[in-house]
Amino acid sequence: MEQSSQIIYSAMDLLRFTTAGSVDDGKSTLIGRLLYDSKSIFEDQLEAIESTSRKSGEEQVNLALLTDGLRAEREQKITIDVAYRYFATPRRKFIIADTPGHVQYTRNMVTGASTADLAIILVDARKGLQTQSRRHAFIASLLQIPHVILAVNKMDLVDYNEDQFNGIVDDFRDFSQRMELPNVTYIPISALRGDNIVHKSLNMDWYNGSTLLHTLETVHVGTRRNMVDFRFPVQYILRPNQNFRGFAGMIVSGSVRTGDDVLVLPSKQRSSIKRISKYNSIAESASAGDSVTIELHDEMDVSRGDMIVRTANIPRMATEFEAQVCWMDAEPMLLHRTYKMMHTTRVVSAIPVGIRYRTNPDTLHRETAESLLMNEIGRIRLRTTQPVFADPYTLNNATGSFVLIDPATNVTVAAGMIRGVETEDDLSATNFGASKDIIQGAVLKSPNVVWESWNISRDERERKNYHKAIVLWFTGVSGAGKSTIARLLERRLWSNGCQTVMLDGDQLRHGLNGNLGFSSADRTENIRRAGEVAKLLYEHGLIVICSFVSPIAADRNKVRSLLPDKSFFEILVTCSQNTAMNRDPKGLYKKAQEGRITGLTGYDDVYEEGISPELILDTDSVNPEEAVQTIIMQLKSEGYSFEIL
Ligand code: ADX
Repeated sequence: MEQSSQIIYSAMDLLRFTTAGSVDDGKSTLIGRLLYDSKSIFEDQLEAIESTSRKSGEEQVNLALLTDGLRAEREQKITIDVAYRYFATPRRKFIIADTPGHVQYTRNMVTGASTADLAIILVDARKGLQTQSRRHAFIASLLQIPHVILAVNKMDLVDYNEDQFNGIVDDFRDFSQRMELPNVTYIPISALRGDNIVHKSLNMDWYNGSTLLHTLETVHVGTRRNMVDFRFPVQYILRPNQNFRGFAGMIVSGSVRTGDDVLVLPSKQRSSIKRISKYNSIAESASAGDSVTIELHDEMDVSRGDMIVRTANIPRMATEFEAQVCWMDAEPMLLHRTYKMMHTTRVVSAIPVGIRYRTNPDTLHRETAESLLMNEIGRIRLRTTQPVFADPYTLNNATGSFVLIDPATNVTVAAGMIRGVETEDDLSATNFGASKDIIQGAVLKSPNVVWESWNISRDERERKNYHKAIVLWFTGVSGAGKSTIARLLERRLWSNGCQTVMLDGDQLRHGLNGNLGFSSADRTENIRRAGEVAKLLYEHGLIVICSFVSPIAADRNKVRSLLPDKSFFEILVTCSQNTAMNRDPKGLYKKAQEGRITGLTGYDDVYEEGISPELILDTDSVNPEEAVQTIIMQLKSEGYSFEIL
């Protein structure tokens, strides 16, 4: 979502709006007509359009050419999702958020629209409300856009028929009653002919309302910014010389004064504001929307993506939360896949761990879903590897919104709005299917369970242990050599004074996981429990050595997502099938060959390598001693400090 605009107008004379519609319902023509009739087009551009239109023998000036020309320009800047077009009338200035692409309606609507004051939803008078129109109305309500104009376009093609218009208005009223959509204005227009765009139509004397432009010029614009909660995401660190250290960025909400006590997140270091510079001069105070440089009284470690807030008003620091997301990519959203999340100026890895429901845009019913497809909207649970500093979108649209990016392609795949803490009501409103506790693998905690912070922090424990905590996760088929290497490694660390603990599949399956077998659901649950235990032990400052077949890549990724970056070290132990079968430490391959067991990983069941292991050890070519040595060296080279070793 849009984070900054360099244009500075006062809120009163500026209206930001966005347009939404399906293909061919005339969005480009509408924008062109607005610019053309309000004489906002530069003269030379106008001439060019007129002559191009004449050349192609068109009777009307082809207004779509205007916006298409801009689109071509924009397309050269491949990285941007949204472009802003500016125009002005004597009464007001306007910013239109517009995005390239005909097909990606949702992207069009969502990207950049969280700061829009108004959305125009275009409907073709001949076709009436389409699923897309309903979807856009729903998105407008999710984004809390204060004004919506339902523009019924192409009225010329239905002979300017009043009943046709009223029918569509009734449909929309009926639909929008079921959601929060505060101010809706209905206008019959023909963008092509110019009816009710800038000039009142002579063809629809039954319509007494305002023209589109008049409505745009006169709707009330309040600020959509939260003016209460001070949030300053740090964008750059400025250090021109030894005596100056400033943090630059835009205040996204609230305000601040020189002398105010502040806190820097995530470190929670305290300081106070020494100086504020705004547009190159010193300012006593600054507020939401201002791009500023802030200096603090104390020297401290601050990096891009950190957030400066007031000491007594801090956002949630969360690594797990719920969000409404609009999926915008042709590739569906996959559970347990890692995406990049951009939230304010912070970029973290985020993994969707559960889908609560998907909303049907026609009925607004909540449906169960396994993934989200392009243009679908759903409520999901996200887990991040680093905390984000978030407020619910309903309270703060700047710190409550984010986008997800595909790390492989760098394409924005979703826009999201963070929701508040879940309530009982939320839980019961959903159709959970068979199990009320487990939604697509994500176990929801009871809403009455409150997270209790650790009595003695990991940090304190680590300092006492003289080493960091980490989870070393051995994975691979039976007989590959996981346990042998894991045990040797533990012995080595232990005798060097490290605090270690060992979790092993066979051992856990004798107790905690005694009720689980080897179906893929049971294996998933086995690894989930093992992962949760590993995390608890990790938080207690230990080197947690885990040895599980863990054949399903997504299960391993889930465990990874429970832990901070670089705290989960996956070691895939492999060997040829022959070697494993010859070793056959538990006689399982023999049993499988004799048909006494089935579903043995590496024999008649798959092991998914995935893409994530930090280290692969092939025990056909390295012996256990060498393997241990390799692990320790690799950990050291990645910055893990075993001060003790
Ligand atoms: S996992 O697949 O769920 O990760 P885990 O590591 O806990 O497995 O347990 C594997 C142990 O269970 C093996 O060491 C072996 O002793 C035993 N086992 C019994 N049946 C199977 C099977 N079908 N596949 C793999 N391991 C099995």
